[in-house]
Amino acid sequence: MTNLSATSKGWRRKSGRGMQIRKARTADIPAIARLVNSRAEVGDVLPRSLDELYECVRDFFVASDGGAVLGCSSLKVMGEDLAEVRSLVVAPEAQGTGLGRGLVEACVEEAGQLGIRRVFALTAKPVFFERLGFERVARSAFPQKIWKDCFSCRFFESCPEVAVQRMAKDNAGETAEYLQESNATRTE
Ligand SMILES: CC(C)(COP(=O)(O)OP(=O)(O)OC[C@H]1O[C@@H](n2cnc3c(N)ncnc32)[C@H](O)[C@@H]1OP(=O)(O)O)[C@@H](O)C(=O)NCCC(=O)NCCS
Repeated sequence: MTNLSATSKGWRRKSGRGMQIRKARTADIPAIARLVNSRAEVGDVLPRSLDELYECVRDFFVASDGGAVLGCSSLKVMGEDLAEVRSLVVAPEAQGTGLGRGLVEACVEEAGQLGIRRVFALTAKPVFFERLGFERVARSAFPQKIWKDCFSCRFFESCPEVAVQRMAKDNAGETAEYLQESNATRTE
């Protein structure tokens, strides 16, 4: 269960009552693929195949108004204390309503629940991330990312992306409490 503190930061107020940020389901994957690959064409995010997206469906959050998927983000765990926000896209018609913020906050919150404090992104939109409390850092701080994804990227030689990082609040205790509560309910 993800308790979205992003709610208090206004995305729901700006984007309307029916809007929800939730974990993705397999039925969302075709819409996620369309969103992500439409922005991959201009180099904003890396392209993702349908197979790859189904495999990592559990990494994804979506912004949905009950029917259409209007945005997505994913949290990729890279190590014991490091995770990356990736595949962050908001549909053009829904931009500027706080969904991007909500989708990133959902990832940061989930990192905290996993006990991961360092959350980073490689982005051509560093100012957007700075508005959300991220700080610019050297790309060399994330050698795992460079070896895994960057070397195979067609933009590697001329990559305009900047690394940004934010420390997540450690909410691992809250996850444990939630699990305890669920178990208690189940055995009643
Ligand atoms: C970048 C993107 C995710 C932002 O989503 P969004 O829903 O429009 O952003 P929000 O409405 O949540 O904006 C949150 C804050 O960031 C600011 N912001 C939004 N886009 C920005 C940008 N491109 N540059 C600088 N600031 C930006 C907003 O003004 C807002 O500031 P405030 O809360 O202080 O008023 C969206 O424009 C997008 O999908 N772009 C194409 C794909 C992309 O570039 N993804 C990022 C790859 S890392």
